[in-house]
Amino acid sequence: MAAYEYETHEYDVVVVGAGGAGLRATLGMAEQGLRTACVTKVFPTRSHTVAAQGGIAASLSNMGPDHWQWHMYDTVKGSDWLGDTDAMEYLAREAPKAVYELEHYGVPFSRTEEGKIYQRPFGGHTTEFGEGPPVQRTCAAADRTGHAILHTLYGQSLKNNAEFYIEYFAVDLIMSEDGACTGVVCWKLDDGTMHVFNAKMVVLATGGYGRAYFSATSAHTCTGDGGGMVARAGLPLQDMEFVQFHPTGIYGSGCLITEGARGEGGYLTNSEGERFMERYAPNYKDLAPRDYVSRSMTMEIREGRGVGAEGDHIHLNLSHLPKEALAERLPGISESAKIFAGVDVTKEPIPVLPTVHYNMGGIPTNYWGEVLNPTKDDPNAVVPGLMAVGEAGCASVHGANRLGSNSLIDLVVFGRAAAIRAGKVVDRDTAVPSTNTASVDKAFDRFDGLRNAKGTIPTAELRLEMQKTMQADAAVFRTSKTMKEGLDKMVAIAGKMDDLQVTDRSLVWNSDLMETLELTNLMPNALATIAGAEARKESRGAHAHEDFTARDDENWRVHTIARVEGNKTELTYRPVVKDPLTTEEQGGISLKKIAPKERTF
Ligand code: FUM
Repeated sequence: MAAYEYETHEYDVVVVGAGGAGLRATLGMAEQGLRTACVTKVFPTRSHTVAAQGGIAASLSNMGPDHWQWHMYDTVKGSDWLGDTDAMEYLAREAPKAVYELEHYGVPFSRTEEGKIYQRPFGGHTTEFGEGPPVQRTCAAADRTGHAILHTLYGQSLKNNAEFYIEYFAVDLIMSEDGACTGVVCWKLDDGTMHVFNAKMVVLATGGYGRAYFSATSAHTCTGDGGGMVARAGLPLQDMEFVQFHPTGIYGSGCLITEGARGEGGYLTNSEGERFMERYAPNYKDLAPRDYVSRSMTMEIREGRGVGAEGDHIHLNLSHLPKEALAERLPGISESAKIFAGVDVTKEPIPVLPTVHYNMGGIPTNYWGEVLNPTKDDPNAVVPGLMAVGEAGCASVHGANRLGSNSLIDLVVFGRAAAIRAGKVVDRDTAVPSTNTASVDKAFDRFDGLRNAKGTIPTAELRLEMQKTMQADAAVFRTSKTMKEGLDKMVAIAGKMDDLQVTDRSLVWNSDLMETLELTNLMPNALATIAGAEARKESRGAHAHEDFTARDDENWRVHTIARVEGNKTELTYRPVVKDPLTTEEQGGISLKKIAPKERTF
């Protein structure tokens, strides 16, 4: 057994991760007087939310008529009827409140002439239950909305006495014998000390796992750490096969060009200069949802109408927009286009390509953020002491495809919901659970084994193998053959984890060891993704199966539940929640309105 000395910390709540969801949860917990720690591997304002550009969806009606039920309808249709209806109602209903709270906390939103929060159009957001024109629902702070939100939430959390443990890497969850979560084991990166955080509630807000792929808009820190810890605790992941490709990553670097660019009037063209989205989505054109646009772009390239010397990408045109509008509304992406594509957006189109952007799947939760461990008898069984929010979680509001700007609103609505729930279920007067040494020792053993790994494959080499396989075989379009090959390859790649080679044995700023720990987190996420994809014999949202091109509601309107152990993945299924929170009589949406139908734009 590996012996590490450690410092013990006790809190009512420990939040792991300091992105938008983690900080909103931290702030909400601290505001209620819960003793709250936020543990994060990066400085809070460097969390990946800082890169969120276009905005946050809420039916404020600042730019024209809107309604929370229209937002809910769009989210249901956007999810291709895989989202949980109760969670989607909660999201759309609570969104305006959550945005006004942000405004009052101090988020510097862009403004209309009358001083209201500025809102822009985004893909898939419509009026009149999809019958009317696009709606301006996405509240923006220029094209740096995530940056504005993150800085504000961090400041507010400090003001409310939340305690931050910065550059602490969460190694593993501490689980009791009866299956409750009682804390988390961490490694402090800058001095090499080990820490045990015991808590009545642990909230995983660790973000997505975009870095399981070769080209992603996600930061290098997006390594699915929460999903990895959950899988090692014997808990499941949900709907992992649904991976969103953002239509406009810069060709080559993968850097994000916000959908807000199309919201402000930008459009895509092929090698013939044709605005091809008019053919694929006659009503909403470039403002169709992301899965639709990414598939259309891929089809244009496949059919020989891509641009560039190799005909392998598409043009995004902004040069027809007024220079002042570009400077005021899209300054960030104008700069990114210059730096990463050498393009002056006032004169030339930006070369773009669909790029991995978001994970619809994650740790299954209810709409309060409580983690679920579905059993045959109880598909909604809650894991005591554990919550998951933001991209790490799967509530599931995005189902098979997320609408742009529904991510930032998911972060704050469900970060806030977790705090509301914790305020009710965390008993301030009971003692914090004592250290479960068996679980802590297990975490140290794993940590020590990796620190001293003497195999033959460097971490970076195995990571690259995984990334290339995922990029090739769990792509925008998928076939039975590519997914079977991808699954076999991933099983073999994950099988090599025992042969990893770590060369740095130190404990202080050991990035070799940190990246190895991250790879142990990426791997179960990647396995669950390809296994879930291979098994799902239909097309739905971001899962475009070329051998099963239709959606199959009779057999497949179910959530995939994946349990990963080593390189083995076991799949079961859990019913989708079809009932909204409120009936039509209580002021809710009509069931008829949200009944599954063909998804066209
Ligand atoms: O295009 C964007 O600005 C990204 C927004 C989102 O993913 O919600």
